[in-house]
Amino acid sequence: MKLTKVINKNHRHRTMGISGMKIQREFAMANKNTFKCPPIEGFVNYYLRDSCISVDPFARNYCGAKYNNDLNPKTKSEYHLKALDFLIMLEEKDTEPDLVIFDPPYSMEQCKRSYESYGYKFTYDDTLYVGRWSKEKDVLSRIMPVGSMFLHFGWHTNGMGLKRGFRIEEIKIIAHGGGKYDTLCMAERRISKQRKLF
Ligand SMILES: C[S@@+](CC[C@H](N)C(=O)[O-])C[C@H]1O[C@@H](n2cnc3c(N)ncnc32)[C@H](O)[C@@H]1O
Repeated sequence: MKLTKVINKNHRHRTMGISGMKIQREFAMANKNTFKCPPIEGFVNYYLRDSCISVDPFARNYCGAKYNNDLNPKTKSEYHLKALDFLIMLEEKDTEPDLVIFDPPYSMEQCKRSYESYGYKFTYDDTLYVGRWSKEKDVLSRIMPVGSMFLHFGWHTNGMGLKRGFRIEEIKIIAHGGGKYDTLCMAERRISKQRKLF
């Protein structure tokens, strides 16, 4: 793939692929609070700056979004619901987010540990569902307007996807060294309401 280095108006160096998707890689020490890792914090702040209605269903103690939630009742989040119930609540209030920050547990093991430490059972159904978060994404697909942004963090880059009308604009790879998994930060923009059939 032919790559060109570009500098945008905010002097952030990016590498732009021929498809227009920006791809960049940086090294930074891992932090269990994802957004305390400086380049990831910079990534989130860049998109938050232009946002009026932001939503973070898996926020832990990060309170940068307007509406934040975490299942763990000991965190600083405003709500302590399962992400799906939180998003349905926002849908019932006719909330139309222009930015969604989606940073769920990165593995089934992490999710199981979270659930059990907060007193929830981790069921067989959960094992089939964790990682995909498809019900949460279906609600988001109903409430996110064209032009809005979805930021996904994890060990893969499966976000909302073209089927839900989203196109990837930026991927930032954060390497943590020492054989640790990279953190992949991805920004997708909603480009259409309709699902693409092909
Ligand atoms: C990767 S951490 C988020 C870190 C956060 N973005 C930060 O920068 O600190 C994932 C969070 O999701 C929460 N969580 C796990 N399952 C959840 C669920 N079904 N609904 C809501 N929150 C959940 C966990 O308690 C954990 O705090």
